[in-house]
Amino acid sequence: MTAHQDGTGASGRSGSPLILALPKGRILKALRPVLSRTGIEPAPDCLDESSRRLRFPTSDPNLDVVRVRSFDVATFVAYGGAHVGVCGADVLMEFDYPDIYAPLDLGLGGCRISVARLVSVVDDPAAGQSRLRVATKYPTIARRHFASRAINAEIVHLNGAMELAPALDLASVIVDLVDTGSTLRANGLHETETIAHVTSRLIVNRVALKTRPEEIGALIDRFRAALTEET
Ligand code: PRP
Ligand code: MG
Repeated sequence: MTAHQDGTGASGRSGSPLILALPKGRILKALRPVLSRTGIEPAPDCLDESSRRLRFPTSDPNLDVVRVRSFDVATFVAYGGAHVGVCGADVLMEFDYPDIYAPLDLGLGGCRISVARLVSVVDDPAAGQSRLRVATKYPTIARRHFASRAINAEIVHLNGAMELAPALDLASVIVDLVDTGSTLRANGLHETETIAHVTSRLIVNRVALKTRPEEIGALIDRFRAALTEET
């Protein structure tokens, strides 16, 4: 069963505000100017992460914002809890939800998903191996990547700080996001392969797009115009 088939989720309830799911953290800050250009002004405490509120009205009475973890944006949208969201391509790759349509690359939060290992280990731990232990918060991406090299990845699933894993013998390599590379350097690691380049996407629940096409289409157009304005 797909996420929407049991009839749950906000996607079917027209008349209620559209829900836009935004990821907390770095992307939320980077989104601020884009939101301003769309003309969407969330309540001020939306951008203040010390606020315990999770749902915020905006300057548009037909649009509310919810602030969730970046990994959960895709899940909120896939299940119709939110109609629209902003989500990294890494999360879309990891979950591959069929109920999500990603019409717009926002070009924000550019980084990459990479394999990294200890600088001090001279031989590539993956060379000639049929099995490798990998610490990551991306089990599907990591498994798929190593399977394409005929390596069976044993996944150690962590939610953060995986740069610690190789030095603590928890894993031989990690698969994680790299932006400036400073976290890798600070932990004695270096990047050995880039799996994918990542930017943030505007994502939409496919059923919601069918049931509320004008409102959601207009929202996508506002984001598209905001990106054009930037250049
Ligand atoms: C992210 C990512 C890397 C780091 C990459 O971690 O998981 O650790 O940022 O950025 P850099 O290349 O500029 O150092 P984050 O700070 O979000 O923390 P977490 O992994 O503990 O969630
Ligand atoms: Mg990290």
